[in-house]
Amino acid sequence: MRIDTDQLRAYFSDAPEDIALDDVDLGRVPAHVSIIMDGNGRWAEARGLDRSQGHVAGVDALREAVTTSVRLGLDALSVYAFSTENWRRPQREVNLLMHLFATTLVHELPLFHQENVRLRFLGDLTALPEATQEVFQQGLDETADHTGMTFALAVNYGSRAEIARAARLLAEDVAAGRLTPDQVNEDALAARLYTTGMPDPDLLIRTSGELRLSNYLLWQLAYTEFYVTPTLWPDFTRWDFLRAIASFQGRSRRFGGVVGK
Ligand code: FPP
Repeated sequence: MRIDTDQLRAYFSDAPEDIALDDVDLGRVPAHVSIIMDGNGRWAEARGLDRSQGHVAGVDALREAVTTSVRLGLDALSVYAFSTENWRRPQREVNLLMHLFATTLVHELPLFHQENVRLRFLGDLTALPEATQEVFQQGLDETADHTGMTFALAVNYGSRAEIARAARLLAEDVAAGRLTPDQVNEDALAARLYTTGMPDPDLLIRTSGELRLSNYLLWQLAYTEFYVTPTLWPDFTRWDFLRAIASFQGRSRRFGGVVGK
């Protein structure tokens, strides 16, 4: 994706001491970064606030992550917003999150237009409240022609459910004679995942220090580099993002092969 260098320099001026834009190689930024945005609740509790305030603060961090990704020229940013397991949270928190997703999306549409960002969703949206589904559809329709970065929101997403669904779709295609069993391969399965058409993430960032995948993109993360930071999601800034990219660029990616081959 093309980078506007002046805009980029302005965006990353005023650097903290330990990291600056010059610490990253702009010719080697990851194409797809994915984020498990964790720690909203703890951020709020540490301030004596309701957990919902943590999610509201998380929206600001997410807006900054989208802008940072666009400025750095990423092809795709994906974020884990709500898992298939998150329905187990108190009803009040679930309702707040569903409402927040819808209102945020409407509110951020001008940003997506301005930055030429195309929206997509990962997950089973049919279980969401109708009002949320309608707003999501509006977001899809209004950004369908955008040619810049893809922003993928994982909502009611679970990786095992996604893979089981892909297997079911393959079985249906075989049963209907559209596919022979020997055509069931990695590409055929990947084409039936929610992420079809997107490159696998190069870099996965997880905030709040937890060292687990939480049923997120199990298939797609096979060769992804992980970056875990203790920073809680609402505190995650463009500088934390830059630190993650710098760490990524210091890795040697072998994809199961040998260095330099
Ligand atoms: C994890 O923090 C965060 C979530 C489950 C929700 C993510 C939602 C946002 C960042 C709000 C904005 C998102 C959109 C798409 C508008 P947690 O509640 O699990 O925190 P904890 O581990 O400290 O309890």
